[in-house]
Amino acid sequence: MKVETKISKVNPLNPERDILMEAAKLIREGHLVAFPTETVYGLGANGLDEAAAAKIFEAKGRPQDNPLILHVSSIEEVEPLVESISHESEKLMDRFWPGPLTILFKRSSLIPDIITAGLDTVAIRMPSHPIAKELIRLSGVPIAAPSANTSGRPSPTLASHVIEDLYGKIHMIIDGGSTGVGLESTVLDLTGEVPIILRPGGVTLEDLQEIIPNVEEDLSIIADSEDIVPRSPGQKYRHYAPKADMIVFSGQLPNMVRAINAKAAEYIKDGKKVGIMATDETKDEYKAGIIISMGSRKRKETIAQNLFNTIRLLDGEGVDIILSEGVELSHIGTAIMNRLKKASGGKIIKV
Ligand code: TXA
Ligand code: MG
Repeated sequence: MKVETKISKVNPLNPERDILMEAAKLIREGHLVAFPTETVYGLGANGLDEAAAAKIFEAKGRPQDNPLILHVSSIEEVEPLVESISHESEKLMDRFWPGPLTILFKRSSLIPDIITAGLDTVAIRMPSHPIAKELIRLSGVPIAAPSANTSGRPSPTLASHVIEDLYGKIHMIIDGGSTGVGLESTVLDLTGEVPIILRPGGVTLEDLQEIIPNVEEDLSIIADSEDIVPRSPGQKYRHYAPKADMIVFSGQLPNMVRAINAKAAEYIKDGKKVGIMATDETKDEYKAGIIISMGSRKRKETIAQNLFNTIRLLDGEGVDIILSEGVELSHIGTAIMNRLKKASGGKIIKV
């Protein structure tokens, strides 16, 4: 279905109330609104309205078995959505909300089946972005919101990415500039014996260990083998994928640079257009190809921020192959490597 998409610029620090009122009204009426959060742009609908949520799946081309996250604007809003709130989750909400942590709870009967894809758990998070917070509050309902991209494509960190994927399919896009973290929230399952990170993100393993020292990571997050089946439905799909083929390199920095230069030369000899995802420390060491630095290795948060945009930029250049440097598997590096692994379809070369 073709709809007219209104694009409204909103000040991310001090959002214009009248525009957010208009967006909230659209949400209450069962329409879709894309909005910035501190992680990536979300595609929002009334999370208690089955028909509205169904439109999300249609607009994104999202598989029906992939559940959605409900976004709330206060901790009090969680209670009616869940069966119970454990002491652990209370501590985590106090420490990390609002922010990029999504927590799984046993769901209550209030939640439509389409949100949870029939599972008995529901994923909930409270974003810290002023626009997201205010939009949810004004809507008066939990907002179901996946990342506002076409399924399979890199998540949107700028309104222009949302426009690229969803223009003409949704009622409104709120342009609040670039998102902060750049990668999606951490998804944490607290419903089993041991807390498990299903998707690494803005809140890291090390952050969580301060509150829940026994937290573990789902093996599929960065495992070498594609045979390890992820516990979270969303993690099993090829994701964040560029149009180009992609290979990720991991290992010592000089080895990565040498291997990427060699691989680039091979492809160029074959007449292929090569894109290289480098870092500030290495970008001058590449000999050929379209070279983009994702940021500094000394501040991996900048790499996280620029990761998806870099993939989209190289796609825009029409490259045939993207060669990307990897990062160490600690702190935000785990989330970066998880996204690179998914984007490349698991093509990681150790050097
Ligand atoms: O940062 C974020 O989380 C962004 C912004 C918009 O809030 N949202 C986001 O949503 O990334 P989405 O739909 O792209 O990813 C949600 C992930 C998927 O991998 C999904 O499978 C998982 O969370 N998920 C949701 N509900 C779940 C559940 N009940 N059990 C297991 N995994 C669940
Ligand atoms: Mg997504």
